[in-house]
Amino acid sequence: MSAVRRGAAGAVLLLLVGWGAVPLARAQAVAPPAALESNVLLEGEQRFRPQWSARGLVAAQEPLASAAGAAILRQGGNAVDGAVATAFALAVTLPQAGNLGGGGFLLLWLPGPSPARQRGCLVEASGGNPAAGPELAIGGGTAVAVNFRETAPAAATATMFLGPDGQVDRARATRSLLSTAVPGSVAGLALAQRCYGRLPLAQVMAPAIRLADQGFPVSRELSDSLAAAAPRLQADPVSRRLFLPPPVPGTRLRQGELAASLRRIAAEGERGFYTGPVADALVGAMERGGGLITHSDLRAYRAQLVRPLRREFRGHPVLTMPPPGGGLTLLQLLGILEPFDLAATGLNAAASLHPMAEAMNLAYRDRNALLGDPDQVPVPVERLLSPAHLDGLRRRIDPRRHTPAPALEAAAAREGTNTTHLSVADRQGGLAALTTTLNFPYGNGISVPGMGFLLNNEMDDFTALPGSANAFGLRQGTANAIAPGKRPLSSMAPTLVFRPDGRPWLATGSPGGSRIITTILQVLLNRMVHGLNLAGAVAAPRIHSQLWPERIDAEEGLSPDSRRLLEAMGHSVRRAPAMGAANSVEVLAEGGSLGTVDPRRAEGPAVAE
Ligand code: GLY
Repeated sequence: MSAVRRGAAGAVLLLLVGWGAVPLARAQAVAPPAALESNVLLEGEQRFRPQWSARGLVAAQEPLASAAGAAILRQGGNAVDGAVATAFALAVTLPQAGNLGGGGFLLLWLPGPSPARQRGCLVEASGGNPAAGPELAIGGGTAVAVNFRETAPAAATATMFLGPDGQVDRARATRSLLSTAVPGSVAGLALAQRCYGRLPLAQVMAPAIRLADQGFPVSRELSDSLAAAAPRLQADPVSRRLFLPPPVPGTRLRQGELAASLRRIAAEGERGFYTGPVADALVGAMERGGGLITHSDLRAYRAQLVRPLRREFRGHPVLTMPPPGGGLTLLQLLGILEPFDLAATGLNAAASLHPMAEAMNLAYRDRNALLGDPDQVPVPVERLLSPAHLDGLRRRIDPRRHTPAPALEAAAAREGTNTTHLSVADRQGGLAALTTTLNFPYGNGISVPGMGFLLNNEMDDFTALPGSANAFGLRQGTANAIAPGKRPLSSMAPTLVFRPDGRPWLATGSPGGSRIITTILQVLLNRMVHGLNLAGAVAAPRIHSQLWPERIDAEEGLSPDSRRLLEAMGHSVRRAPAMGAANSVEVLAEGGSLGTVDPRRAEGPAVAE
């Protein structure tokens, strides 16, 4: 039996696999998850119960895509198969963020010996020296990260988005073909599948192909999202034909051209995207429309296997995405906050939120000044995570007063449904956390003629002009300047947490632009420090601060008393729209796994199959 759980606004699903998949109340009767007994459920909030499955589950932002991943788990796929199936299905059912024309990051842990060495992947990944390879042994298994962030085309230059007045031409940086970086998703998903999956790529992609071919009923969320993006999609004749007028909810959306592109990839792997008719169409569009991506850029693109960043938090190993991902900043935040007794000061209390917000400002200052693509600029990872540096940052936090941004100097955020995160647990306890994006919702709004997919505008994640804000208000430095082949800095940070004895425990991550990192931080603190169960940890109201603009953004639910106390400490507090969508899973010590979708993006009633 599988169960579909839906909440209140937006389309989100948690899909459970196997006969053991039942809502928690029944699961307790089947196999009492002891870990939960010591955890706090938000009082009276049945909707904040995670769900349980004996045979694995997928927590993603769109129900049909989660169902695709769950079907693959049911067919004997592992967490990687499930994640890859879900990601390809999201390219069909969640075109605002799921994609073939974007990029992302995947963090995975699988039990037992790694299959990657035997499959030749480690030699490929480490330039012939497997000893210096990307895998990290932990908990009787293997963890690795897949970097499939897009790259700047060979003809890109540091000043390509500056107008004659020396200022950033925002339209060129976000809505033109120049804004598209060489897509990484297909290479990354194919690499993960080839090196760590259990099933053939064609089998894993079959549900996505079916969804594109046969169509699916358009949700209210998709219909509304297409309507909101209509002005941008309207500007491109191909996108206009594919997506407009926005189908009314319930109408079937068939995507034959996308199905054909997916079939090519299923048959040929990444070659079916980076060479042949898909590549010809993409490069043809670039040539006609003033973009930079050439056949040689596409052929040169490589997804990478990389070693996850690791740091302990209260005895728990935390593994996350290294630069150009956002994990370094997440680990800095955990390191700065570790000595604070946040459990004693309490969830949602000003005495907890003040050091959290100040730590966020300090960590974003480092991010914006010092981080970039480590393949092209020196990134002082060890120094930034060293106890000396973290102690120094912590000492800058005045326990009574907000430190004004000019005294620290350095970066703001706008939320979009531009990115999406999924987490998968398989029946062996294998975990996958995958975040993927087109940057803006529907990327730059431009689709590849005849191929059925949209292009990213990830070039805007680079620094177009040092100190000038990008779409997320981030004012970044020269370490993230545009250069050929370079990957733009990202906030995406798929993250895995292990038990102190090394066994796998949590998989999480989030969309949300610059708010990704602070969203994940709060999910982890809520679960690990405040003792909320997984669903409560994901649902609890969140704050965000990133130095510039100088304010704390707070979701609905911040206590008025905390707000007053924070303002008395010198903080400016703004009520902000919902931040992030931290779809997460947890492996239980006694077997089975829990999962939760973020109720910020949930829709409709629960459906059980
Ligand atoms: N495109 C947003 C990010 O990668 O952080």
